[in-house]
Amino acid sequence: MKILKIAVFPLIVMVSISCEKSWETTVASPNGSNRLYFEINEKRIPTYWVVHSTDTIISASALGFDFKDQTPLKSGLEIIGTNTQTVDETWEMPWGEQREVRNHYNALVVQLQEKMAPKRKINIHFKAYDDGVAFRYEFLEQQGVDSVIIMDEHTEFQLTGDHTAWWIPGDWDIYEHLYNTTKISEINATAKRDHPNLAATYIPENAVNTPVTLRTDEGLHLSFHEANLTDYAGMTLKVDTKNLKLTSELVGSDRSGYKVKRTLPFSTPWRTVQISDNAAGLIDSKLIVNLNEPNQLGDVSWFQPKKYMGIWWEMHVEKGTWDYGMEMDENGVWQDTGKAHGKHSATTENTKRYIDFAAANNIEGLLVEGWNTGWERWIGFEDREGVFDFVTPYPDYDIAELAVYGKEKGVEIIMHHETSAAPRTYEQQLDTAFQLMKDLGMHSVKTGYVGQLIPKGEYHHGQWMVNHYRKVLETAAKYQVAINAHEPIKATGLRRTFPNAIAREGLRGQEFNAWATDGGNPPEHLPIVAFTRMLAGPIDFTPGVFDIGLPTKPNNQINTTLAQQLALYVVIYSPIQMACDLPESYEGQPAFQFIRDVGVDWEQTRVLHGEVGDFVTIAREERDTGNWFLGAITDENTREITIDFDFLEEGKTYKALIYRDADDAHYRDNPEAVVIENRDITVDVTKTFTLAPGGGLAISLLLE
Ligand code: NOJ
Ligand code: CA
Repeated sequence: MKILKIAVFPLIVMVSISCEKSWETTVASPNGSNRLYFEINEKRIPTYWVVHSTDTIISASALGFDFKDQTPLKSGLEIIGTNTQTVDETWEMPWGEQREVRNHYNALVVQLQEKMAPKRKINIHFKAYDDGVAFRYEFLEQQGVDSVIIMDEHTEFQLTGDHTAWWIPGDWDIYEHLYNTTKISEINATAKRDHPNLAATYIPENAVNTPVTLRTDEGLHLSFHEANLTDYAGMTLKVDTKNLKLTSELVGSDRSGYKVKRTLPFSTPWRTVQISDNAAGLIDSKLIVNLNEPNQLGDVSWFQPKKYMGIWWEMHVEKGTWDYGMEMDENGVWQDTGKAHGKHSATTENTKRYIDFAAANNIEGLLVEGWNTGWERWIGFEDREGVFDFVTPYPDYDIAELAVYGKEKGVEIIMHHETSAAPRTYEQQLDTAFQLMKDLGMHSVKTGYVGQLIPKGEYHHGQWMVNHYRKVLETAAKYQVAINAHEPIKATGLRRTFPNAIAREGLRGQEFNAWATDGGNPPEHLPIVAFTRMLAGPIDFTPGVFDIGLPTKPNNQINTTLAQQLALYVVIYSPIQMACDLPESYEGQPAFQFIRDVGVDWEQTRVLHGEVGDFVTIAREERDTGNWFLGAITDENTREITIDFDFLEEGKTYKALIYRDADDAHYRDNPEAVVIENRDITVDVTKTFTLAPGGGLAISLLLE
């Protein structure tokens, strides 16, 4: 592959002001609320800024790149052309928070070229939406150059005040951090390096991961992220605490020594800023999916949104194990040497017990972890290549019989592939693993990437792994398999293009409550997540713990009330929602009725109110039935919320089942106290509810 090497020419600047054309270099959103401006400034640096209403919210910010073996592309440019376009289209989500999405924006493409040799060209595409702005770089074919090696991208976001920020550190391997709430000037991400529960962290700069959400003193909300992350490194944002500036810092690779290598032509991911006058508007925004290409898979009805249970929580609360107790012989083959310890959870018998329970309770999926050989050499082992096998079950697990047993009862088994962050081993087996799933009629898999990546020097969020995650998604689609990735690359709206990207983790999930040594997720965690991580896409948070005190884990508990666990089915969006607790925890519990009833696929969504880190209330209408479900959650503070049911359909009476915190409920010492009330509700009802500290409210509104 040829990489252009540039000779440095003596600088002879020829200025010909007289023949410079005037180009259109601004674009406003359809309702005019957001406006982007672009110019080549007096130093010939490409610069943009953003105005919301009459306020500048991002002031003059530079754009540019550093390359290997090429001079940087960040100054000496001129505009050689522009064009504009308006798009107003509506597309349908095969599954989602709403059926129809309007994609309405004005676009501006600015064509740039270096004034001097080698006269490289680059286009910048800007899009202005009413819910935010976005831009991306288009690297064009250049004479004599067929590829570029990007050492870093310098996209700046110059803020105009010391806003409040909700952020996690710019980790290159994992997003499973607690959120911090500080002013921009107080962000200190490198101090968060020593996380007690995360093995794999690499935070070279004072940077934050995206989405990162900000609130100005005037109450404007901004969230920074990226859309359509394809064949490129993930972007963190370096924080200049003095100048209040964020600058892109791409995830690197110690193995290659660069950030991105691409053949020309190509386009970078979109750099996005969601903008809303209130917090709720951020959740309503569809900017991230709109910036992705339309569905490439066509009909994906082989995947149906569903609730699922799992042979899962029992391992996290240490009632059972993933491993069986096999030994690997000198040829690398797992052998049953008769030393099984008897605590293995994924047995045929136990799986049937879960299937029976799920079938009896309107739950159509069952995740089974620990079914395959390799778990004896999982966490803590350096050499994990060739250890996990994705087609060979343990001796006490009859995979074929269970697939049939589940199908007969209307419960599809969800496959589990823990790669232990050895993606090459996984890639070698991808086709056989998915073929096995196809043969057994299994249409979704939870993947996992726990641990430090092999090969050493690569990071979970670098270009090499971005391409791995994409390869898994595309290969899976060929076998009609949908992916729920844990330890994933962040969501960037690709579910529009590949609707088999159903959900992912990519945050500190429920499991931390079972084993974190720092007290678990605090009550403010999810009221922050709803306005940060959730803006990226569906979350496999795994709600539904009823046994909140966790008897097998004396130092841990869930820091929410039971009513909040129910509310999460509505608040935290995913087309697959786990009922994560053990069957015995649900047995005989009246509140379990909410999980039986609640929908997972939505006609429309209304964010009724919320403030980042404090509380949020969301109502969603189920597709096809017209039933509504409502969830509200609060942080550690008790809170009164008034719900105006004006979203309901006129003229209809809904049978409401209200699951609210009892008057004396408290996440710390009385979390399971829930009151269930029945009443009829119509469109003209308004009602006030009290949420307990760490509490919630869940309502099903069922049409008869
Ligand atoms: C981490 C995942 O987040 C968790 O859900 C899973 O049980 C373990 N890895 C094992 O794969
Ligand atoms: Ca995890």
